[in-house]
Amino acid sequence: MKESNTPREIISFYLDELAGEVSMSEIMYSKALPEEQFIGQISSCTADDIGNLAKRAGIDATSQVLDIGCGRAGPACYLANKLGCKVSGIDLVPEHIGFAKKMVQSSKLENLVTLLTGDVLANTFRAEKFDVIAGIGSWRHFASDKIIPYCYENLVPGGRVAFIERVLLSPVDSGAIQELSEKRACTTLESFASYYFGLQKNGFVNVFIDDVTVQYLAFTKTMLNSVNGYDKQIIRNFGEQKFRDRIDLLEAEYRAIADGSLGLGLFVAEK
Ligand SMILES: C[S@@+](CC[C@H](N)C(=O)[O-])C[C@H]1O[C@@H](n2cnc3c(N)ncnc32)[C@H](O)[C@@H]1O
Repeated sequence: MKESNTPREIISFYLDELAGEVSMSEIMYSKALPEEQFIGQISSCTADDIGNLAKRAGIDATSQVLDIGCGRAGPACYLANKLGCKVSGIDLVPEHIGFAKKMVQSSKLENLVTLLTGDVLANTFRAEKFDVIAGIGSWRHFASDKIIPYCYENLVPGGRVAFIERVLLSPVDSGAIQELSEKRACTTLESFASYYFGLQKNGFVNVFIDDVTVQYLAFTKTMLNSVNGYDKQIIRNFGEQKFRDRIDLLEAEYRAIADGSLGLGLFVAEK
């Protein structure tokens, strides 16, 4: 497996997932999830999963949050709206941030949500420190020996890093995982233990880990069971081949979760 993807490869992957302003994941998730669970996210998490992460990280109206790899800022707007916290979001893909800025404006969240295009590891927020650094489905793109020290450095004392990410549960690579990782520009696949030790080694304490693989399995199954609800719109916007490729990958992902090789973790740790 490749060691990591370059920012250029990651941008190119996400641009391929867009047709104009429409995102393929957004079409799928908006059609398949119950209305209250779709909040504009492009990661395999529900609104409840994101709410649980925020609760565990102690986010409230006084918090300054940095959302790394914020995507189209669905989660950032959700947290600001629900909890009244300030959120700074950063994402590599200019088209994501362009779309997100319009959403912030139309939701009248300009006072709470600020957005920036760029590579988080280029340390664009150098002047500020945050109470919480959140990452929802974005850590798969980061080398953990770089992102963990980055988070430590950019948190206030007592601040929390909080993320939801895929983990490898079994060392036996079914091939599906390699394909999934490479085709979705996410070659970073850690385990519960490697994230735990990585966080500890870099000075984090009170490491909390929740295994949310059951929710991930249910999410993926819901996507597969709802194909009839989104197939036509995806084919219209992206063509038959891209639709087929995405479903093949989703099936491979489902098999990898169901056979115990792939899981999802919720992680919170304190500086
Ligand atoms: C699976 S998406 C999740 C987006 C968002 N967190 C959500 O839940 O909707 C991962 C995002 O991480 C962003 N990303 C990856 N590497 C990045 C980097 N080095 N700096 C900033 N953003 C990055 C990608 O552009 C992508 O939008």
